Amino acid sequence: MKGIFPIDKFRSLRTPFYYYDTRVLRDTLAAINSEMSRYDRFATHYAIKANANPKVLAIIRESGMGADCVSGGEIRAAIRAGFPASKIVFAGVGKADWEINLGLEYGIFCFNVESIPELEVINQLAAARDKVANIAFRINPDVGAHTHANITTGLAENKFGISMRDMDKVIDIALGMKNVRFIGLHFHIGSQILDMGDFIALCNRVNELQDKLEARHILVEHINVGGGLGIDYTHPNRQPIPAFKEYFATYAGQLKLRPHQTLHFELGRAVVGQCGSLISQVLYVKQGTKKKFAILDAGFTDLIRPALYQAYHKIENITSDEPVEAYDVVGPICESSDVFGKAIDLNGAKRGDLFALRSAGAYGEIMASGYNCRELPKGYTSDELI
Ligand code: LLP
Repeated sequence: MKGIFPIDKFRSLRTPFYYYDTRVLRDTLAAINSEMSRYDRFATHYAIKANANPKVLAIIRESGMGADCVSGGEIRAAIRAGFPASKIVFAGVGKADWEINLGLEYGIFCFNVESIPELEVINQLAAARDKVANIAFRINPDVGAHTHANITTGLAENKFGISMRDMDKVIDIALGMKNVRFIGLHFHIGSQILDMGDFIALCNRVNELQDKLEARHILVEHINVGGGLGIDYTHPNRQPIPAFKEYFATYAGQLKLRPHQTLHFELGRAVVGQCGSLISQVLYVKQGTKKKFAILDAGFTDLIRPALYQAYHKIENITSDEPVEAYDVVGPICESSDVFGKAIDLNGAKRGDLFALRSAGAYGEIMASGYNCRELPKGYTSDELI
């Protein structure tokens, strides 16, 4: 065991694989529950898209959270993991008929509706089953977030949600329909947000919209502010638990929740990000003309975030105490973007060393692909490797 990793156990596993430290996950869930318990009428739904590994889902479900799904496949994964349908919300700009039907059949808590055509289809499909679907409208709040351009969602130019100026109209349409019940408003401004000011901007916008609706005597039972709380990719050991205290306190302080309302959150990255590492073996150390390359058996098929978003994941050589040297850490895929980090200071590396790519619990394993006919990485929890 070096540091936090059971190296001996790792040696018997085929690399690359994801390793989930269940102590970190359980501590994170306990922190969420303890911060949430300060406030009445707060509810969280775990965003399944961040990580749907069944062993991880089982632990999250035990903590009592609901589930936030964006596809029929995610609804199935949530139900299989034991999340109650009554705590499932279903978002997405392009819900297919079979996915809507699946949600109706399970009787999920709420469809987060993103357009009028979608509303019409849900109403029709619910009517055909003689059901009434709970719906919330996802409103695009036109609030920017200080994060990567590819992961902001709440700007007018993004494809998500219904524009604010159409809010009254869509609510009126829904109120006139027989097979949908309008229960709430939904928002989401982006991901990996560390600046509480961004969440305050969303609160201000929600307050404005609520005042307008109140003036029209329209009651909204549920406000859902999405997810987006970021994690510390630079210091996964120093700060394994995200800033839940500040996050929930920001909403409690800034969002004017009406007495009858419940405030919902959809946290993904902040729940699972820090518990996961991608463990990979050094295949070769190659001396280039100007630098040294550590060539891993993991590539962007296993962890795509660096290639796709230029995301930073801390890399550690967990089997070496040799003097530190700089390496470009790269994968085996036949593309020049298959690079995890350039000029990274690492303990001297040799063939067979194990590297950990940290903070990879969110949007890691779930975004893996089979490009180059590579196998998908497996995921192991620390509970299994005792
Ligand atoms: N709710 C909605 C409507 C969302 O679109 C998302 C994420 C979440 C909740 C959860 O957000 P979180 O708490 O995880 O920030 N693959 C990207 C992130 C994409 C996020 C998409 N939506 C990445 O690897 O950074």
